[in-house]
Amino acid sequence: MNRYKLIEKNFDSSINFESEDIFNNKKKVGKIFDVIPNFVKEDLDEITGKMADFYNDVQFPNYDDCEDYSSLYDKGIKNIFTKRLDEELGYGTKILELGCGTGQLSLFLSRSNREIFAVDISNASLKLGEDFREKYQIKNTYFMKMDVFDLKFKQNNFDCIISNGVLHHTKNAEEAFKCLVKVLQPGGIIIIGLYHKYGRLFTRFKQKLANIIGNKIAYLDRTSRKIKSRDKRRAWVKDQFMNPHETLHTPNQVFDWFSSNNVEFLNLIPHYDLNKDRLFSKKEKPNISIIDDLLMAFDSTQIQEGGFFVMVGMKR
Ligand SMILES: C[S@@+](CC[C@H](N)C(=O)[O-])C[C@H]1O[C@@H](n2cnc3c(N)ncnc32)[C@H](O)[C@@H]1O
Repeated sequence: MNRYKLIEKNFDSSINFESEDIFNNKKKVGKIFDVIPNFVKEDLDEITGKMADFYNDVQFPNYDDCEDYSSLYDKGIKNIFTKRLDEELGYGTKILELGCGTGQLSLFLSRSNREIFAVDISNASLKLGEDFREKYQIKNTYFMKMDVFDLKFKQNNFDCIISNGVLHHTKNAEEAFKCLVKVLQPGGIIIIGLYHKYGRLFTRFKQKLANIIGNKIAYLDRTSRKIKSRDKRRAWVKDQFMNPHETLHTPNQVFDWFSSNNVEFLNLIPHYDLNKDRLFSKKEKPNISIIDDLLMAFDSTQIQEGGFFVMVGMKR
């Protein structure tokens, strides 16, 4: 029996993991689909296709600094956001990571008997994640190729959905958010990380420069200069400055997405400080003026990290 049969109950009733169709795509898309199910049957639309090609070339994040599971775990624990996730996601939680890339977060969270569904559209990224999973025999993480706009899961299925740095690379971030909320169960938590409209101002400027000077843009970017591994630096530079498609957002816009999809606001990072408070505890919804948004353009952390905010909500 293939291991995916164990999780079949989470999918639409039309999905059968014994069907050759899901695994037997060798001729069309390559060998990895002997082991990773592929739910992308039709040609992808233009933007999603471009993103799949881009992330087949740039696998993000790569495994250069993860020799084994304990180094992957150390990396997760050193980052306050992923550390908090690990602390606050309960034993046995059923999690969808949408746009898992190479799956480092999914694999990091795989302890505590959680069940992790790690979804992406990039064959090369999924393969890196699956190779690591197989090597360290992590049993409860399931990689699969699926497009956020065509999810094959049952509605109201997951306890938690994480999509970090993904929706702004899709053809319609709000629509993608709606698709995610459908498969989240009431009371479930959704965590999305998005590029900030103004926090990304300097990065936008560097993108224009990168059109002219190419990879040399790394010399003008502090974060790139700090990255020692060549491959990792290349992945960061391409992802940040040469990405074929990205959209920019504000927290106020996401508040509207939350209210029109029946999602209650819990937390906004960096507005509330993770060093002081829990990720999933309910905070007062902040009033964010246009000035507050504009000031993000001059926030040094935003500049270094490429302008990013994370919003946490709970489906009612
Ligand atoms: C910047 S990477 C983020 C990876 C990972 N979440 C992280 O934080 O390191 C964006 C990922 O989103 C995936 N992606 C883009 N569009 C997608 C779509 N329509 N459906 C599923 N995944 C998508 C890409 O293939 C890529 O791996």
